[in-house]
Amino acid sequence: MISKNIKLPPEHIYPVDDWRFIQKKFSPQYLAQDETVFAIANGYLGFRGNHEEGTPVVQRGTFINGFHEQWPIRYGESAYGFAQTGQTMLNVTDSKVIRLYVDDEPFYLPTADIKEYERVLDMRAGSLHREVIWETASGKRVSIRSTRIVSMEQRHVAAISYEVKVLNASAKLIVSSKLRCPTEKNDAEDNTVDPRKSPGVGPSVFVPQMNTIKDERVLLGHQIQTSGMTLACGVDHYIKTENTYSYAGECYEDSAKIVYTVHAEKGMPFEMTKYMVYHSSRNAPVDELCGRTERTLNSVKQAGFEELAENQQQFMDNFWARSDIEVSMYKDRRTQQCLRFNLFHILQASARVEGTGIGARGLTGDAYEGHYFWDTEIYLMPFLIYTSPKIAKNLLRFRYSLLDKARKRAKELNQKGALFPWRTITGDEASAFFAAGTAQYHINADIMYALRKYVEVTGDEEFLFEYGAEMLIETARFWADLGFYSHNGKDEFHIHGVTGPDEYTAIVNNNAFTNMMARENLRYASQSLQLLEKKRPEKFEALAIDTDLKKEEIEEWENAATKMYIPYDKEKGIHPQDDEFLKKEIWDFENTPLESYPLLLNFHPLVIYRFQVIKQADVVMAMFLLGHEFSKEQKKSNFDYYDPITTGDSSLSSCVYSILAFELGILDRAMELVRYTAWMDLADVGGNVKDGAHIAAMGGTWMAIVYGLAGLRDYGGKISFRPKKTPNAKAIRFRLTLRCKLLEVVIERDKVSYLLKKGDNLTIYHREEEVRLTKRQPSCTKELESANCN
Ligand code: BGC
Repeated sequence: MISKNIKLPPEHIYPVDDWRFIQKKFSPQYLAQDETVFAIANGYLGFRGNHEEGTPVVQRGTFINGFHEQWPIRYGESAYGFAQTGQTMLNVTDSKVIRLYVDDEPFYLPTADIKEYERVLDMRAGSLHREVIWETASGKRVSIRSTRIVSMEQRHVAAISYEVKVLNASAKLIVSSKLRCPTEKNDAEDNTVDPRKSPGVGPSVFVPQMNTIKDERVLLGHQIQTSGMTLACGVDHYIKTENTYSYAGECYEDSAKIVYTVHAEKGMPFEMTKYMVYHSSRNAPVDELCGRTERTLNSVKQAGFEELAENQQQFMDNFWARSDIEVSMYKDRRTQQCLRFNLFHILQASARVEGTGIGARGLTGDAYEGHYFWDTEIYLMPFLIYTSPKIAKNLLRFRYSLLDKARKRAKELNQKGALFPWRTITGDEASAFFAAGTAQYHINADIMYALRKYVEVTGDEEFLFEYGAEMLIETARFWADLGFYSHNGKDEFHIHGVTGPDEYTAIVNNNAFTNMMARENLRYASQSLQLLEKKRPEKFEALAIDTDLKKEEIEEWENAATKMYIPYDKEKGIHPQDDEFLKKEIWDFENTPLESYPLLLNFHPLVIYRFQVIKQADVVMAMFLLGHEFSKEQKKSNFDYYDPITTGDSSLSSCVYSILAFELGILDRAMELVRYTAWMDLADVGGNVKDGAHIAAMGGTWMAIVYGLAGLRDYGGKISFRPKKTPNAKAIRFRLTLRCKLLEVVIERDKVSYLLKKGDNLTIYHREEEVRLTKRQPSCTKELESANCN
């Protein structure tokens, strides 16, 4: 993979801390990326890390997962079956803004005389803090402290605790607390062409429906022009101060504010708590949402900020107890912070996903328009299944809720069964570029792969029978219908005209990854239905009637799986990515300067498609997901072949390569690749963190540690580890939830310990050796073999 630039955050601005990401100096050059890095969210509601004053800003961002506008996609040249409905997650009403004036002088970070500054993303507490001491032109020293929380417990709720104190004099303060519906797309002019960024939907899609003001509470209600989605956003305030003050409010269709005028005595604080509540819906009328918003505001205001913060702390303690990766390094002091940053952001993207998926950038930015991709099932699911299985289940249920749309889509494409959309919010395909979109049929198999892992790791067979089986029937049907038997003397099952994960190669025959994953999908469908018939015959019968399933169909899936053609080049000992791949010319990497990456921003797809050049793990991905189907020699040959021709232009790539490098004992390379994935956002490896956090790479970071370094393999529900010696770390500790039991794994220099922290007994494997942990004997320690041994 092409070398990447890892520029760690400079320590004089961002000092090292294990639990907090700290900024010690306001730094305009990092403004855009800090808006992403300091974002806080709960999976339903997310705020970019914009400063309270509202300016300076690159992108103001307040997002609600799945809250979108849609429009008919207009093609210059259309064709039958093209995706029809564009969908874009909207930047919604901004409630974060609090402007401050001291003796009428506005507080504006870039020009203010800042004496002290600290901004902290507190990953242990789940909050964002800022403390500033500002000296006004007339010499008044003003302390400004804020704490921002998006509640994990109450998904509609956020709050800011804001305190101003004039330290050395008295002064007149104006504190203006605002609410504003976005009226233009982006705050800063940005004309760069980048297909990954959201094109936006224009200013006029928020149709005002309601605005009310009462005392210190304001509420705005809107409906979205075409999608018809409804939104209510309300804010209320609580003031604590011994200073005298008054307030006045204004409320219009698209904006509102409560303005406090305070006669601040020297050293006497003015404390304001701003409660912010969002309710949204696909069908409830705005006035009903406004009613809900009022009720939520009443209860959260009554409980107070402290209770909100305590609940947040409890939630976070719980999260870290089951999800943390603790590392103790010899040298690299930032690793711990970086790992926690990644895990924290996954939590922020997923904690309260209920009835939606997870957008490619979570709720930190609108790149990829808030769409849900395979990122969720393949990159995030492993972490979620092993640490928060309830969230994993919610996500799979969400896919199930889209099954009817997937059936309809398959029909549109003249196929049987169901085809899940490559990218979507509503369940309708939103990719207007079918070659790298709809043609990625592997999405079906990816979702079924995640289903299988979920069922095997949690033991939740009920879910498999209630929801999974039906999805398996329709996806297996799809594959059986999409492929065909090629009777060129061999009787093989081929799948043509598809795109695999590598988007630098499109519409090919027999993409090895797709064929292998389809085979897995077909087999799992057949096994699961047999299990269902055996264990719950009445449910099987009912499902067979509902889906018009014939027994012969199941035989047909087995047959297709058995005959599935997997490209293999005996001479080279590798799996060609597809039928034509090896015939292409190899990209001229030597004469491609680093500035030409990512290639997708500098070369027409037709140019890229002509060469052997890879955007992201494809065959190597198959070797990770279905590793048991490759020999060690094949893995080595494939890795050696594909690594040098992979650009890693997708942030989804390096983690997968690192896992294979660990497995193959190429430890230096493995560590280098882990760094690319772990530092993706904090070191801006891809150069576009400003547009949002790379949530899949964050899940990839967890995978690189747990599947890579610790060598977890879980195919078929058999949990085994092959930990590697860690040259840079004294110890690494993580926990996994397995069928409601909690296992702790600690890898030290020469040994690994397995510890059953919760549960009666658990059987795992250390390499091939069975390890039984029980209440009486909850731990077991094993020696590690030398570095290159595996
Ligand atoms: C990658 C896809 C991924 C998408 C969203 C693209 O650049 O090629 O695999 O699903 O980004 O993260």
